[in-house]
Amino acid sequence: MRAIVLMCLLHAALARYDGNHFGHSTSSPPPKEGRECITDQGACGCCVMVQEVNRLTTYFETSLNTLEMETMQTAQRLNNIEASRVAFSSSMNNADRMTCFGPFPDNRLVPYDYVFINLGDGYNASTNIFTAPHSGVYSIALTIYSDAGSPGNTLAACASLQVNGKVLVGSSERNKQDQEDSATIVVALQLNTGEEVAVRLSAGCFLCDDKNHYNTFSAFLLYPTP
Ligand SMILES: *[C@@H]1O[C@H](CO)[C@@H](O)[C@H](O)[C@H]1NC(C)=O
Repeated sequence: MRAIVLMCLLHAALARYDGNHFGHSTSSPPPKEGRECITDQGACGCCVMVQEVNRLTTYFETSLNTLEMETMQTAQRLNNIEASRVAFSSSMNNADRMTCFGPFPDNRLVPYDYVFINLGDGYNASTNIFTAPHSGVYSIALTIYSDAGSPGNTLAACASLQVNGKVLVGSSERNKQDQEDSATIVVALQLNTGEEVAVRLSAGCFLCDDKNHYNTFSAFLLYPTP
């Protein structure tokens, strides 16, 4: 608003300068602003002001329309980002006693029955599969833990991250030296809507957990892609 007033004053001053080259009100007015400028200096100044006000009104209306459009587009983008929020994090269980899954003679998907957060409903606890609700770059993290029960027992903490049924990355720890072992995998992945991520327990291995949540499986959307 201040800018408009300043510009009006500026243009009015310039117009007056044009009309009275040295600021003397008695010198002849310029002919370029139309008939009024020749005959009536006051009308001429008014005419210039009206022209300027009209020009500025058009300019500010156009700018305002552009700004309104851009604000709407930004709000739409923000809505899209908010609507595509995905954050999933879970652990195997919340049991008081250490409870193990495995070993089995074949590969199995690890059940993550204790869900911390499942924003976007990507994880289905019935299938043990996380399905990407939106296309985007995801961060997937997996920590496995196993407890052989006592030193000298065979420890076999081995699991892999599978995407659409195929193993992407794995971690393995099989030995008789430790009683406990733990491993972590973190990857960033481009997933398209509907692509599936799960944790596969290798045959002969086993994972153990309790309410300390030693085994976690998490997936969250870093940013969406079209
Ligand atoms: C989870 O998977 C089961 C088995 O495929 C299916 O019946 C159920 O509808 C799924 N739940 C959701 C919320 O998609």
